[in-house]
Amino acid sequence: MIDTDFKVTPWEVSGDIDYERVVSEFGVSLLDDKIIQSIKKYANEIHPFLKRRVFFAHRDLDWILKEYSQGNKFYLYTGRGPSGGVHLGHLVPWIFTKWLQDRFDVELWFQMTDDEKFFFNNNITLEDANRFSYENALDVVALDFDYKKTIIFSDLDLSGVLYRQAAKIAKKITFSTIKATFGLTENSNIGQIFYTSMQAVPAILKSVIEERNVPCLIPQAIDQDPHFRVARDVLPKLGFNKPAVIHSIFLPGLEQYGKMSASSENSAIFTTDTENEVRKKVMNAFTGGRVSAKEQRELGGNPDVCSVYKYYYILFMLDDSELFEMRSKCINGEIICGECKMILSEKINKYLRHHQEKRDRAKKLLDKYTITEQVDLKGLIDKRR
Ligand code: TYM
Repeated sequence: MIDTDFKVTPWEVSGDIDYERVVSEFGVSLLDDKIIQSIKKYANEIHPFLKRRVFFAHRDLDWILKEYSQGNKFYLYTGRGPSGGVHLGHLVPWIFTKWLQDRFDVELWFQMTDDEKFFFNNNITLEDANRFSYENALDVVALDFDYKKTIIFSDLDLSGVLYRQAAKIAKKITFSTIKATFGLTENSNIGQIFYTSMQAVPAILKSVIEERNVPCLIPQAIDQDPHFRVARDVLPKLGFNKPAVIHSIFLPGLEQYGKMSASSENSAIFTTDTENEVRKKVMNAFTGGRVSAKEQRELGGNPDVCSVYKYYYILFMLDDSELFEMRSKCINGEIICGECKMILSEKINKYLRHHQEKRDRAKKLLDKYTITEQVDLKGLIDKRR
């Protein structure tokens, strides 16, 4: 049966996502050529994620660029809900964030929402979520963010600083807004109801520390948008700018539909997977192939419904001519799914070998990035530079 129904919320992404409908229902703007050209003006190149519209929508990015052109730099803010291992999907917004950091020479504030995962996941203890904050941070560090410009913090470990702002934000949000935005009910625990105020805080934290309004840009997949819809409503009431956001699509799981979900072990590839595990998962992937190799050679495959092709498109074949060639070979029946899957698993394994080495090295570097309550946040970045 074709799944025509889909869901995009911060806690569930499923079904065959119709991104056009998401754009109109969420009320975000599409990234058009004009805005991509303005990014290029400062970045000197167009990232493949922009060219391919892997990053495809935004709110107020034009404002961020205008401020930047006038010498008013923004800072980046993004995050992770540490409930287990990091998978390849999570890397999509982080790889792009790293590119933005380098190209615009800006700070990154990275939030680990261990509190969120505790409130929303019945199978995780507060201590485990806190521990995952630091394990997951290894994957962030492995992407080579510049420690002089990057701060990683856990909600629990920076709670004193964050709670002061979250309290002010929470007072401006009603329960009915939360129910309507996140679909929470009378039975939701009250941590869940409060939580979005914590996710809003890093969007103003630098402004609070510097005692002036600093523009903030948030790269993320579009499932996180509801948090910042609420934040954008509330923060001006407290005298702050609305944060700008830039949204990506989802790297799908290797089964038929949906985002890569950590809860579906076989459809998600984790950054710590072994070569064998990767091979096995890719070999079981859903493709646009035919019932038999013979038929596929005669009639060709369909890359547009194929999860393997989506991996090429989003992460593993960023060279346009290589991708085009693979696509043509598939459509013309010159390559069948088995071969194509082998190529993908090798590409993923090559990437992961490198990532895993850097992740290992990150254990020694982690302290340079993370902060806790004892640190004086004022001038912190200046001291690191
Ligand atoms: P989390 O841990 O669910 O996801 C971390 C980041 O990865 C994005 N993402 C994906 N991107 C592409 N393909 C996928 N399959 C995929 N799955 C997840 C998410 O959109 C997110 O950007 N509440 C947040 C943590 C958070 C945060 C933030 C995220 C706190 N502050 C600010 C973004 C921006 C969460 O649980 O993310």
